Amino acid sequence: MCGIVGYIGARKALPVLIQGLEQLEYRGYDSAGVVCINPTNHSLFLAKEKGKLGQLKSVLNGVSLASTTGIAHTRWATHGAPSKANAHPHEDCKRRIALVHNGIIENYQEIKHKLLKKGHRFRSETDTEIAVHLIEEYYDGDVEQAFRKAVGELKGYFAFVVLSADEPGKLFVFKRSNPMVIGVGNGENFAASDVTAIIPYTRKVIYLEDDEFAVLERDSITISSRASHKPIRKTISEVKWSVDEAKKGGFPNFMLKEIYEQPRVAEETLAKRLKNGKVWFDTLDSKAEAHLKKIRKVFVVSCGTAYHAGLVGRYMLEEYAKVPTEVQVSSEFRYVDPLVTKEDLVILITQSGETADTIAALREARAKGACTLAIVNVVGSTIAREADYVIYTHAGPEIGVASTKAYIAQLLTFALFTIYLACLRKTVSAGFVASYLKEMRKLPKAITTILHREKLLEPPAKTLFKNKNFLFLGRGYNFPTALEGALKLKEISYAHAHGYAAGEMKHGPIALIDSTQPVICIAPFSKTYEKMVSNIQEIKARKAIVLSITTEGDKSVKQLSDWVFPIPKMSEIFSSILSVIPLQLFAYKISVKNHRDVDQPRNLAKSVTVE
Ligand code: F6R
Repeated sequence: MCGIVGYIGARKALPVLIQGLEQLEYRGYDSAGVVCINPTNHSLFLAKEKGKLGQLKSVLNGVSLASTTGIAHTRWATHGAPSKANAHPHEDCKRRIALVHNGIIENYQEIKHKLLKKGHRFRSETDTEIAVHLIEEYYDGDVEQAFRKAVGELKGYFAFVVLSADEPGKLFVFKRSNPMVIGVGNGENFAASDVTAIIPYTRKVIYLEDDEFAVLERDSITISSRASHKPIRKTISEVKWSVDEAKKGGFPNFMLKEIYEQPRVAEETLAKRLKNGKVWFDTLDSKAEAHLKKIRKVFVVSCGTAYHAGLVGRYMLEEYAKVPTEVQVSSEFRYVDPLVTKEDLVILITQSGETADTIAALREARAKGACTLAIVNVVGSTIAREADYVIYTHAGPEIGVASTKAYIAQLLTFALFTIYLACLRKTVSAGFVASYLKEMRKLPKAITTILHREKLLEPPAKTLFKNKNFLFLGRGYNFPTALEGALKLKEISYAHAHGYAAGEMKHGPIALIDSTQPVICIAPFSKTYEKMVSNIQEIKARKAIVLSITTEGDKSVKQLSDWVFPIPKMSEIFSSILSVIPLQLFAYKISVKNHRDVDQPRNLAKSVTVE
C-alpha cells in the first residue's frame, strides 16, 4: 500500500517520477504528490493533490522543471483521511527536507507530542509527517546522520525516501518490512516500491533488506546496515519482466488484459515446470526434496484470492499427495498460536510477496521451526526472500487490483506441486502421472476456448447488472471457485456477493431465495454433479434467477438455468482452473456496466502492506 518512487540522474525528474507513479498507482490512489529539487536556487518544488494521479497530472500540466532529482508518492490512506494536506511528500518546518513513506509509524503520537513541544509545526494528520520533523530536529549539517537517528526512534514498518535542498546531489533511502528496490542506472539511479516503476529505464536492481540504508547519487549507490553503519556489498539482479507486460497493450484496462493473458500464463507455467514427463522446480534441490518427503502435515496460509487458491490446493494435496492439509487466512494464523511443528510444511501463497499478514505468518511459522515454502509472483519480494524455499508463479506483473492471472498461475502451480509431492511420497503411479500431465497440457487451449465465448455472458450481465445481491454456489474443487467469483464481483462492482458451499444452502441461505435473487451455480461434471443438479432444482423451485457454469455436453443443468456458460470437459481438479474464468469476465462486465473503475476499485490497494 502506497507507492514510492525516487530519481536522481541527468534526465528531467518530473516525467520520470510521474511515469513511475502511473505504474505504482495500483498500490493506492487516495492522493498523489511529488517534490523536486530546483537546481538553480536549491529550493523544493512541491505539488500534491487529493484523488487519483490524474488530478496531480492536471495540476502539473504545462509545468516544465529543470530538476533532475525528486521523489514522489501515491497514497493509500491509513492515518488521516484522503486529502491534499495528508498527501505525501511531507516537508519539515523550513521546507528544506522532504520525505515519502510507505507503512505505519506506530509510535507517532508520542513523537509528535515531543516535537510539538519543541516548536515543530505540523501541516497534516499523518503518522508520516513526524518522521520528516524528527530528521529536522536531528539535522546539524548531515542529512544521513539525522535520518539514521530519526529512524532509530521509530517503531512500526516503513520504507522511506528522503531528499534535502541542502544536499541536492543525494537521495536517502531506508527500508524495514515494506518493499524498496533500488534501480541501478548509468549516471542515474532510482528507488521504488516495485520494479514496474523502474523497468522503462533499467533492468538492474538491488533489493534492500530490512534495516538497510541506501544513499543514492548520480554515479554511486552506498548501502549500509542500520546497526553497523558499514557499507554492504549487494548483488545486482536482472529483472526479466518486459516493459510491455506492464502496459495495457490495446485493452481498455489492466484487468481485461490480464484475464486475456491467462492462456499464455498457463502455457509458460507448464513449459517451465514440465521436463521429460516430470514436474520440475528449479528452486527445489535435493535438500528440499529430502525435507518435503518427510513432512507430517501442510498448512497453507494466505489472504483474499490467494487464500482461495489455497483452498483449492488443499483438495489437490489431500486427494493426490495424501497429506493432511489445513488452510488458514494469514491474519488468523498469526494470532491463534497455530499448532505447527518442525515436521510440518507451511506454504505461503502471495502474488505480491509483501502482504503484511502473510509476512507475519511466515515469520511465525519459521519461529516454530516449520519448513516454509512460498508460492510467489513478485521476484525478490520479502516473502520470496525470507521463506526456506520459493516457487515463482511467473505470471508477469499484475497491475489490476482484482487478481486474475496470478490466481490461475497459483492454481496451476498447486496442481504441479501436488504431483511433485505425490511422486516424492509415492502416492501416485507412473501411469497416473503421465495421464495427469497430458491432460494439464490441454489447459492453455481450454482457457482460450473459454475466452472466445465471452459474449455468452453479455445477456446475463445486461439483465443483472443493477442487482445488489448475488449468491455463488459450488461444491468440492469449485466451492473455492464460488468464493472467488463472489470476491471478484464485490470488489470491482460493489454489489454484495456471497459464496457458499452448495450443500450449506438448506442450512440458512435458501431463505434469501425469491424471484429477484440471482444465483451463480458452478456446476461442471464432477463427483458431486448430481448433488449440484438437486441444489439448482431447489433454487429454481423458489424462482431464483440462475446463471450456471457447466461442462460442454451437459443437459440437466442447462434445463434448469436461465443462462449457461459451458467450459471444456476436463477432470474435476482442473475444472476449478477453468470455471473461474467466466466468473472473472462476469464480474468485469457487471463492473463496466455500472461505470466502476475496474482497475482501481474504491478503498482497495493491490498490495496490503499494513495489518
Ligand atoms: C483480490 C485480491 C486480494 C489479494 C490479497 C492477497 O482480487 O487481489 O484479495 O489476493 O490481498 O494479496 P497477495 O496475493 O499479494 O498476498
